[in-house]
Amino acid sequence: MNILLTGGAGYVGSACLRYMRQQGHEVVAYDNLTTGHRLAVDGAKLIVGDISDTALLTATLRDMRADAVMHFAAEISVEESVIAPKSHYRNNIYGTMSVLDAIRDANELGWKPAFRGIKPIIETAWKWHRNHPDGYT
Ligand SMILES: NC(=O)c1ccc[n+]([C@@H]2O[C@H](COP(=O)([O-])OP(=O)(O)OC[C@H]3O[C@@H](n4cnc5c(N)ncnc54)[C@H](O)[C@@H]3O)[C@@H](O)[C@H]2O)c1
Repeated sequence: MNILLTGGAGYVGSACLRYMRQQGHEVVAYDNLTTGHRLAVDGAKLIVGDISDTALLTATLRDMRADAVMHFAAEISVEESVIAPKSHYRNNIYGTMSVLDAIRDANELGWKPAFRGIKPIIETAWKWHRNHPDGYT
């Protein structure tokens, strides 16, 4: 499969990237490198971008013909989330919504993931976080 890994230059994302490559998958990392490192992607393709950039994500999904998305881009410091909750909310909640938007947009623009299981997952997640306030958190 062709897999887009947001946060692929981070701690968990880069470990996942290595494992997925070992399993024979094609992987593209998408990361703004705020806490991640270029070297961590280990020679895999890296798109330097922010998950809030829905258009770039959409274009990336289409260009690489992604079959799946694994989303690890986030701000993770518990301490900072208490000091500056707005930044965490923007990045982690709206950022995730942007990733879901990009997947939907890429689908509408004709990107058809080979892995058919992805569509019901997207539809469920999208419906859920739109219709239920709890879904936002
Ligand atoms: N580290 C752990 O032990 C652990 C355990 C369970 C769950 N998680 C979860 O895994 C995810 C990743 O955590 P981590 O430990 O790898 O953190 P990390 O900081 O090492 O990695 C996050 C990556 O996301 C990138 N990033 C952040 N905001 C971005 C944005 N707006 N656009 C693009 N890239 C962005 C960073 O540059 C970084 O490379 C988080 O959701 C975290 O809660 C981590």
